[in-house]
Amino acid sequence: MITEKIARQASEAIDSRLRAAKFIRTALNHVFPDHWSFMLGEIALYSFMILVVTGTYLALFFHASSAKVIYNGSYHALDGQKVSVAYRSVLNICFDVPAGLLVRQMHHWAALIFLWAILAHMARIFLTAAYRKPREMNWLIGLTLLVLALVNGFFGYSMLDDLLSGTGLRIGYAILISIPLVGPWLAFLFMGGTVPNPATLPRMFALHIFLVPGLITALLGLHLFMIWRQLHTNYPGPKRTNRTIVGSRLWPAYTGKSIGLLLLVFGVIAGLGAFFQIDPVWTYGPYDPASTMAGAQPDWYLGWVEGALRLFPGVNLRLGHWLIPEIFFPAVLMPSLLFLFLYSWPFTEKLFSKDTGDQNVLRLPYEQPFLTAGGAGLFIFLLVLLVSGGDDFLALAVGGSVVEIRTILRIVVLIAPPCAAVLTYFICVRVMRRKALRTRMTSPEASAEAAAPDEMALEPRPPVDVHELTPGGE
Ligand code: HEM
Repeated sequence: MITEKIARQASEAIDSRLRAAKFIRTALNHVFPDHWSFMLGEIALYSFMILVVTGTYLALFFHASSAKVIYNGSYHALDGQKVSVAYRSVLNICFDVPAGLLVRQMHHWAALIFLWAILAHMARIFLTAAYRKPREMNWLIGLTLLVLALVNGFFGYSMLDDLLSGTGLRIGYAILISIPLVGPWLAFLFMGGTVPNPATLPRMFALHIFLVPGLITALLGLHLFMIWRQLHTNYPGPKRTNRTIVGSRLWPAYTGKSIGLLLLVFGVIAGLGAFFQIDPVWTYGPYDPASTMAGAQPDWYLGWVEGALRLFPGVNLRLGHWLIPEIFFPAVLMPSLLFLFLYSWPFTEKLFSKDTGDQNVLRLPYEQPFLTAGGAGLFIFLLVLLVSGGDDFLALAVGGSVVEIRTILRIVVLIAPPCAAVLTYFICVRVMRRKALRTRMTSPEASAEAAAPDEMALEPRPPVDVHELTPGGE
């Protein structure tokens, strides 16, 4: 009783100053859909939060300098070796800083899960056509978040100055200077010129911990604000129309679920960090421009670019005085075209679809066979490129030569995507026919409901889980 009285007095005192009660009441009544696929965006959000927290701890001990020192730390295998200050600080984090290795491994695993969650979330948005009006802007913001996450992952594992990251950095530099006209300027801006040079690591560090995370945080805020204003979409089903949203209210059901998910994401990342070794830089050794290591591979989210580099034939293009090197086509042109396609997709689709007005009810993947088939083709294309990024491992595993494997992969990358697209198209059409048949065979009431879900809006809405859309989403 006393605690209730104190709580009431405290909230009245706060409200008399901030006038926040109305806003909080509306916010707590906000409805979120219950479908599991809406959790993918949240997994991305929570892994980003873990990245920021673990990254802040690591930043206390990491020194982004390529000045040379003699290593004399706890990892005796490298005792007396000439290494950079940056590499030495990473070894110290791994072997001398309390919980340093755990936090470092959690940071790296969180980055992988962050990227995985973004891609899965984006695939859900694409395959259910959630990018349609009024959410086109959020599709564009989301894609920019993906680009920033990819770039920041590269900056992160490139600044440790171990043999693997130094090799990746040189590939990154080569890709950057292959861009006609502006390439060398960009390389100077982001890397301080030819790598390795003393400016590279400090610039990477500044980009990795300030600029890119700052941009991600700002865009993420905008992304979530827009979702809040526009409200979520809904999967088709009873009582779900363009003007209603069915699910759980923010308080208490959704809050409980979301906190549970946060703890789960944290638990998985902590478990991976504790038990599964990742990026063991002490085994690679310090970066030396004259050396490289066998089986050098980027993280998986950039493996498709590595694969494209390996598969693309060695053809340079000469345009008057200018030479466009072969590296430009697979590593700059192909990803740029891919992202151009993705950025323009909601607007391109509008040219062909009959959708007008706001689209708050999702389409199911099988209801749009062309789109789903295209998505499957694109997925297989990227998957073959990713596998090609490890063609040396594949050759070892199957006992063939790298040249043979690469030739086979060059054929597979051309044939597999259209085959996957055609197969997916026919599967979708078949599922659609089966569903239509089943709908016709069910009771007249059920088929009426399935055929005309909009009519459900005319029925009284249950007070707890159905929320009427209004401009501004309140
Ligand atoms: C840093 C990366 C990202 C985070 C943390 C994030 C987070 C979220 C969250 C929490 C939601 C609400 C739940 C859900 O619908 O899953 C959401 C919705 C949405 N996101 Fe993202 N997102 C990210 C990247 C992306 C990307 C790459 C795209 C697409 C290119 C995208 C497009 C959208 C759209 C259109 C919605 C509204 C979906 C709906 O209401 O059905 N987001 N995002």
